Amino acid sequence: MPRLQLASPDGSTATVYQHGAHISHFQPAGQSPVLWMSQSCVYDGKSPLRGGVPICFPWFGPHAERSELPSHGYARIRPWDVDSITSTDTHTIAVFSMTPNDAELEMFPNTCHVRLTVTLSSALTMALEITNTSDSAFTISTALHSYFEVDDVKNVNITGLENTQYLSKVEGGTYTQDDQPIKFTRETDRVYQNTTTTCLLHDPDKQRQIAIEKTGSKSTVVWNPWIEKSKNMPDFGDDEWPSMCCIETAAAGPDAITIEPGQAHTITAKISAQST
Ligand code: BG6
Repeated sequence: MPRLQLASPDGSTATVYQHGAHISHFQPAGQSPVLWMSQSCVYDGKSPLRGGVPICFPWFGPHAERSELPSHGYARIRPWDVDSITSTDTHTIAVFSMTPNDAELEMFPNTCHVRLTVTLSSALTMALEITNTSDSAFTISTALHSYFEVDDVKNVNITGLENTQYLSKVEGGTYTQDDQPIKFTRETDRVYQNTTTTCLLHDPDKQRQIAIEKTGSKSTVVWNPWIEKSKNMPDFGDDEWPSMCCIETAAAGPDAITIEPGQAHTITAKISAQST
């Protein structure tokens, strides 16, 4: 499958598939890879890739009314155009874009232009810009669905979401995180609401901390499928769940975004890693 392999002047590297404008690899100079990819990922040009950063658009999760439509929308299962690749003394920048085709307009009947700008330096910055090119307002949910490589998910913790309300897809209902870091002790699938601050993923075994800074996104999704759900996903190895977790920069649920005609909305996520 066609992909771009990017390198920045400082020696950081990234890989982006044209399929889904899907970033599958990010390795800052001097660090081990930051993004997780499943060994069971299906590279057939039709399926979503399991790992990296799928782009969920124009809906997040299952479609609200039509369960037969693809999970997380059409953007991650179609080719994107490569608009440009440029570099400066400090950054390498690749720009991808897409406009929906007829089949996609049948799923979500609104014309739009979607652009992903990937900026690589010692950090990876993704900017997803959605422009409403139709003549009426529409509402989208979306995510930069980042999968992170961890040594053992049972030993990591996440800070930045303390005292925050979340929807739990596992337990059902709305809860409030306590004032402690998030730890993974079971299947976890939560949409934290009204979030604007930076999240830190602390991995004591890897002696690494990953920071996810964001703008334009008010939801943060935290996901690990744990044991049973992993077995039910054909493109996810049964024993891979301890080596990953997702912290997704999203606009979902009550934080979905309405875009007026001629207007655009951009969500950005900047991922960086540092040794601890
Ligand atoms: C997460 C959702 O964002 O993505 C989970 O919150 C979902 O509910 C997961 O299981 C993976 O989704 P998919 O469609 O890639 O299997």
